[in-house]
Amino acid sequence: MIYIKNNEEIELIRQSGRLAARTLNFAASELKPGVTTSFIDKLIHDFIRDHGATPATLGYRNYPASSCISINEVVVHGIPGSNVVHEGDLVKIDVTTILDGYFGDTTRSFLMDGASLKARALVEATEKAMHLGIQEIRNGARLGNIGAAIQNYVEPLGYSVVRYFVGHGVGREFHEDPSVPHFGKRGVGLRLKTGMVLTVEPMINEGVSGVKILKDNWTAITADSQLSAQFEHTVAVTPMGYDILTLSD
Ligand code: MF3
Ligand code: CO
Ligand code: CO
Repeated sequence: MIYIKNNEEIELIRQSGRLAARTLNFAASELKPGVTTSFIDKLIHDFIRDHGATPATLGYRNYPASSCISINEVVVHGIPGSNVVHEGDLVKIDVTTILDGYFGDTTRSFLMDGASLKARALVEATEKAMHLGIQEIRNGARLGNIGAAIQNYVEPLGYSVVRYFVGHGVGREFHEDPSVPHFGKRGVGLRLKTGMVLTVEPMINEGVSGVKILKDNWTAITADSQLSAQFEHTVAVTPMGYDILTLSD
């Protein structure tokens, strides 16, 4: 069941999405080698609360934190804890807010000083891939066009697309229909419709696409322990294109 949002609802998702983006700006300003991921998560928790919203992940299916902080080979759902950020790390922070009942979901990858050229190249390609996917969005386009644009860009660079996790509809629920794969074929899949709100959140791996889930039942790492990067925006489908709802200004 895909929920179509009216303009008023899209503005409410934008308010939530803007707060999520501002939360990432703030987290980024405090992110540096030596800090623990739980310290960053606490800042995120308090920033979201101080702005009248709720961190969507806290208690979601028993997830214990206000953000996901996933370092290097951790693909997604890294649980903040006593682990320390190091020089050269590739750090993904995923923040989801609930403001006035609406969810805003966004992720960025950050490179610590001293990061390798291959880490920098992976992050750059992943952000570009997300934007290429988003640029496929408009009323009437096929869902498969998003994944095809992402896959056709990153695979020739030698990277792989994670298939186990996908983007999703978002609005009054965290994860709504439809699923949004970051791989696929142009011209295939459902037709996007004005008022759909989706996340585009490609996870791109340096090596193989497979993931392993650790014993905490959350942390997903690359099967070959090589690097993974991710960017995520919440995006509305419009008659002529798309509207990114997780911008900070
Ligand atoms: N924000 C993630 C997403 O993009 C979901 C995280 S669920 C959690 O869909 F429980 F792991 F936090
Ligand atoms: Co998401
Ligand atoms: Co997210």
